[in-house]
Amino acid sequence: AESPRFPLNTFFEPEPPDLMPGVCVQNLVKIFAGRTKPAVDGMNVTFYEGQITAFLGHNGAGKTTTMSILTGLFPPTSGTVLVGGKDIQIHMDSIRQSLGMCPQYNILFNHLTVAEHILFYAQLKERSREEAVLEMEMMLEDIGLPHKRNEEAQNLSGGMQRKLSVAIAFVGEAKVVVLDEPTSGVDPYSRRSIWDLLLKYRSGRTIILSTHHMDEADILGDRVAIISQGKLFCSGSPVFLKNSFGSGFYLTVVRKMKNTQGGGEWGSVSLGKSASTRAKPLRKLTQQ
Ligand SMILES: Nc1ncnc2c1ncn2[C@@H]1O[C@H](COP(=O)(O)OP(=O)(O)OP(=O)(O)O)[C@@H](O)[C@H]1O
Ligand SMILES: [Mg+2]
Repeated sequence: AESPRFPLNTFFEPEPPDLMPGVCVQNLVKIFAGRTKPAVDGMNVTFYEGQITAFLGHNGAGKTTTMSILTGLFPPTSGTVLVGGKDIQIHMDSIRQSLGMCPQYNILFNHLTVAEHILFYAQLKERSREEAVLEMEMMLEDIGLPHKRNEEAQNLSGGMQRKLSVAIAFVGEAKVVVLDEPTSGVDPYSRRSIWDLLLKYRSGRTIILSTHHMDEADILGDRVAIISQGKLFCSGSPVFLKNSFGSGFYLTVVRKMKNTQGGGEWGSVSLGKSASTRAKPLRKLTQQ
């Protein structure tokens, strides 16, 4: 972020003043036992209520570590996280009441059915049996698994297990929902149903979603936070980031199709004006 080629404000969009911060990560550091290099290295990032924030970063950037700390899985080495204004180091028990988590790797009970999982987690969040049943019915519809309600988790396909894990993160009206690569290993149709679920439940919630899919970050993310080597690298709306870093060229390649019915002659199937390679400048590369 200190590169002289870019002024600082091309990396960080000003914080939205009208929104409530849902989760504030403050100077967070995590050094795992026996390691010298921090997994999270002085991270500062805010996630806002009513928004989905896409959390992007290379393998090993520190996404899962940050999410694990803010959900209370293990403590930070230093720094802290405020969830709904409460410090995870002091108020983790009360934070858990309104927190939902979909971990990177499914943690499901092999012999509980889909319906039993949702009922179990809803009641853990202090819903009455009747409320839990209502929520379960709605969730089954929303994730497209009503026909699998009585199937044991161990007999679900990988994608279905993922969808169940996402549903569990939302039960009990969780206000802060942390989703670690929720759509990994999910087919495109099911991915769409997870997107619909997130958009339906976004209002009033702080949703943090890590992903390696750029299209997913673009479509779902009200804001995108990109981390690298345990630090926040840049953050802002997809439009802001595209304006800051999206300079370059679109290359459209059009290939003449061989007319297979016409005895080897080149056919007239072409998608461009002249079947050629066209490069269209998008924006002048002002920073380089
Ligand atoms: N339990 C652990 N003990 C020691 N080191 C760990 C542990 N968990 C993670 N790390 C290290 O911390 C760094 C960050 O890992 P993390 O899992 O947070 O990355 P990530 O951004 O989630 O990556 P991915 O996209 O692959 O899921 C890595 O260098 C990793 O090797
Ligand atoms: Mg991870």
